[in-house]
Amino acid sequence: MPSATAVAHPNIALCKYWGKRDRALNLPAVGSLSLTLAPFSTTTTVEWGADADELVLNGRVGTPEESRKVFALLDLVDSWRPKVRVLSENDFPTAAGLASSSSGFAALVLAACKAAGQERSVEQLSVLARRGSGSASRSLFGGWSEWKVGERPDGMDSYAFELAPQDHWDVRMIVAIFDAGPKGTSSRDGMLHTQETSPYYPAWVASTPRDLAEARLAIRGRDLGALGAIMERSALRMHACMMAADPPVLYWKSGSVWAQETVRALRDRGIACAWTMDAGPNVKVLCAAADADEVSARLSRVADVVHVLEPGGPARLVG
Ligand code: PMV
Repeated sequence: MPSATAVAHPNIALCKYWGKRDRALNLPAVGSLSLTLAPFSTTTTVEWGADADELVLNGRVGTPEESRKVFALLDLVDSWRPKVRVLSENDFPTAAGLASSSSGFAALVLAACKAAGQERSVEQLSVLARRGSGSASRSLFGGWSEWKVGERPDGMDSYAFELAPQDHWDVRMIVAIFDAGPKGTSSRDGMLHTQETSPYYPAWVASTPRDLAEARLAIRGRDLGALGAIMERSALRMHACMMAADPPVLYWKSGSVWAQETVRALRDRGIACAWTMDAGPNVKVLCAAADADEVSARLSRVADVVHVLEPGGPARLVG
């Protein structure tokens, strides 16, 4: 029975994806840009040919919702596929404040296409991963990557590509955890509700091309001050847009604000760093590798747990 194993790292967006232009194809309303992060990773084995479709996630049977998403994606890999067994393990805590869906769906499509004997380009793999979870389109790539909004109605031009490799810039992303519980509103539900009810949504969409253009230059020039200003602006505008939804989507907790104040205090002391937040209360702080000890020590005073992550490589086959 053909089988393949792939490893992928999660990524954190610096310019955020929030909103869809096509729900069925999972096409984004805006482009986004991210950093893939090690050492956290997902390892997924796909056995192409089994007695029944079976998903085992971190040692337990997948929930009906998790299984539905995984096997729907495998139907896109091959609509005539056999029954498939999927074993997936995250080597990081599921409550680490990182979207395990980004590494999960990237590892899944890579392993599945290999097990199915398909030769696909990395762009085609990114298109497929996008159908499982938008952010997964970016986790096929190492280092700094961008997910193109695309124009085609079929979405075949909405995939990610590498902007700069893993070793381009020696930075750290420090993840400060305040709340390890499951998030109240999924990113999928939160973004659909925002685009349906927030009066700020058109302004959010209109603001994103400038952020992307400036972020590309800041990454190319390794300018942490410039990139930091763009990433905080992108996160604040995304959250402002969802806070203005009706009823509001509010992921912030008191710890989120304390961490933001810690970052500002560090900057006042001359340490270049900047924060971002996703669909949850935890805060991620980008800084130079040389400042990581000091930034993480400061964040440890306000957070329950702190993880120090570094740029990771692309998704890869390991078996
Ligand atoms: O790809 P999803 O559906 O998990 O949504 C990701 C949404 C954010 O994490 C908030 C932003 C992003 O670009 O990753």
